[in-house]
Parts: sequence; structure tokens; C-alpha cells
Amino acid sequence: MHLHGTYYRTIWPHPEDPGCVCTFDQRRLPFELVVEELRSYRDAAAAIREMHVRGAPLIGSTAAYGMYLAGLEARREKDPEKLLENALQELAATRPTAVDLFHALDRCRNVVEAGLPLPVMAEQLRELAGQIADESADICRRIGEHGLPLIRAIAARKPAGEPVRILTHCNAGWLACIDYGTATAPMYLAHQHGIPLHVWVDETRPRNQGARLTAFELGQEGISHQVITDNAGGHLMQHGLVDLVIVGTDRTTRRGDVANKIGTYLKALAARDNDIPFYVALPSSTIDWRLTDGLADIPIEERSEDEVHYIEGWTGSELHRVRVSPQGSRAANYGFDVTPARLVTGLITERGLCPPSEEGLLGLFPEKAQQTSTP
Ligand code: MRU
Repeated sequence: MHLHGTYYRTIWPHPEDPGCVCTFDQRRLPFELVVEELRSYRDAAAAIREMHVRGAPLIGSTAAYGMYLAGLEARREKDPEKLLENALQELAATRPTAVDLFHALDRCRNVVEAGLPLPVMAEQLRELAGQIADESADICRRIGEHGLPLIRAIAARKPAGEPVRILTHCNAGWLACIDYGTATAPMYLAHQHGIPLHVWVDETRPRNQGARLTAFELGQEGISHQVITDNAGGHLMQHGLVDLVIVGTDRTTRRGDVANKIGTYLKALAARDNDIPFYVALPSSTIDWRLTDGLADIPIEERSEDEVHYIEGWTGSELHRVRVSPQGSRAANYGFDVTPARLVTGLITERGLCPPSEEGLLGLFPEKAQQTSTP
């Protein structure tokens, strides 16, 4: 990804200080580019919980780097096993919906429980965190390659030069991942191939990841886009102004139900009513092979009422928060909703496209056929 012309990933080990991992504090974007230094597993847990970092793949990588920092801390502890167990539990308790978090921590637990000398264990945790980040970047690149033909096919049906109009919700871009993004990867590749695009960016209340992060990314990549209010998508679809919807997912069941940022379900309903293809782009790390029924089984995060009561913006010199609801009113703040597989046209994975069904997913990931047990 390029920020102001410089190539970055969203998380990286400090080049000189082995006790430090760097990331961006996304709460300050798009107004300020602030590099945050994580120096303990508690820093990593706070960064995930308070959404300095967010987006399913980046949450997983940050947790893995948090376990690397825990590995370093354990070397200075009287009871290293206790510290490592606390770290695994604290990181797991940060956010409940994105399953990448739990997949990354499961892999870290295997290293922690391998009975290695502490310095070797810390080194292996560092390597594992790097590997998870590298895998994520590579997977997102491949999602882009598999999604590109969808956009190309729509472009081919249009008069030359007319843009393919894509609607997306929340931020499933490079800021949510390590690089490329999931939903955005096909868009970035299409843009590189010279296909004209216009992206409708849902603002994504309450935290405005669309308005703040996706619009910022698309701007950095030079892609034409407009921010729209969360309720505008249906109107645009009714008037023939949307060719394709592509969103990300935080957890996908083996039957293809997807949990994504609150409001995704309503976009899928509107897309179905208007006969517009609705695709979900996902790395296999967001598939929870143990779950079948998304509505019944996917835990939905509920966040602070204040995220709804207050809205944050840039005054021109600083971030400022103002209240938008009456004092005394209560708010409800569900972070995600579930779009049932029946409303999804197709899944774009790193191994190709498939129908949103158990047969479709197992066709691409046959090795997961037996992975059905609950923890
Ligand atoms: O609450 P967030 O900002 O972590 O939610 C992010 C999303 O809903 C993304 O669409 C999802 O993580 C997919 S990211 C590739």
C-alpha cells in the first residue's frame, strides 16, 4: 500500500528495536498519520480493543505480534507460563467477532505449548507473526487476481470509458489487512489494469470506517469515489447506478453466511431486490469451519453507546467529538450483522470464486471437510 507515495504495510517489527512493533493509529486517519509503537502484549491488546487497529486480518496479525512481545516479556518473569497464558486470554478477549484473531492465537498457543526454551520460543513467535502477516498479504493479492475478471466482465459490457460502479461498506481495504485489502484488492488491480472505476463508499456509522479509511485509501490509490450516507445505497441501486457490490467479512460459516460490519445485510437485501451482484471477498482465515448457521452461531460484538451518541471529526487543526443525540437517550451499538448465504452471489477467496455454500467452499478447500468440531 502507498501512503503519501511511500510503501508501507499496516504492521511491522521496528527495524532497530526488537522489543517494539509498529503500526498506524487508525483512530487518527485520515487527518494524521501517526505510527504507534507497541511494546508489550497489553499495548497490542489495547490497540485491538480500542480500535487503533481494526479489520479482521490486521486484528489477527496484531494479536500474533502481541504474543511475540509476550514471549519477550516472559523471559523477565518469575512465572513465564502464567504471563503467556494471561496474554493469550487477554488478547482473545479484545474483540469477539473477527475469527482471524482466534485462528492467529491458536497458532501462537501451539508455539507456547511446545516446551521450547524461552528465547527460542520468543524467536519462533516473532517468525510466526511475520509469517501470518506475509500470508495475509499474499492471500489478499490473490483475492485481487480472482476478483479482477468480475470487474473486467462488467467493464466489457459498457461503452468504452464508462466506469464500473462498485459499492462497498466499511473498510475492507489495506488498512484492515496487511496489504491490498480484501474487498478492495480486485478494485486496485482493475485500476492498475486501466479499467475505469467509480466506488460508492458507505460512510459506515458509527465509526465511519468508510468515510475515513476507505475514502482515504481510494484517494491514495487515485481511484474515483464518492462517500455516501449509509442509507443511500438502495436509492443508487434502484436508479441503476451500482453495477456490483463487494464487501469483506469478519467471520464466514462453512455454509457461506457472512458476518460483516453492521449494515452489510441491508445492502445485500437491496442488491437482491435490484438484481445487482453482491460478492464477499475473504481470506480463508475468516472462515470458521466449525459453524454452519451464521445467525445462530456468530458472536456479534456490542460496543459502547458513546460511539453512537458522539461523532468525531476534524476541525482543521484537531480531532473533535460532538454529541448528536439528546442527553438521557440510550443507544444500541451492534458492530456487525449476518448476511445469509442466500443473499450472496459469490465468494471471492484466495483459491478462486465459489458459490456461498458448503459444497462451494469445500470445492476450494477440500482439506477442511472434517473440521467441524466446536472448541
Ligand atoms: O469494526 P471493524 O472496523 O474491525 O470492522 C471491519 C469490517 O467489518 C471489515 O469489513 C472486515 O473486517 C473485513 S476486513 C478485510
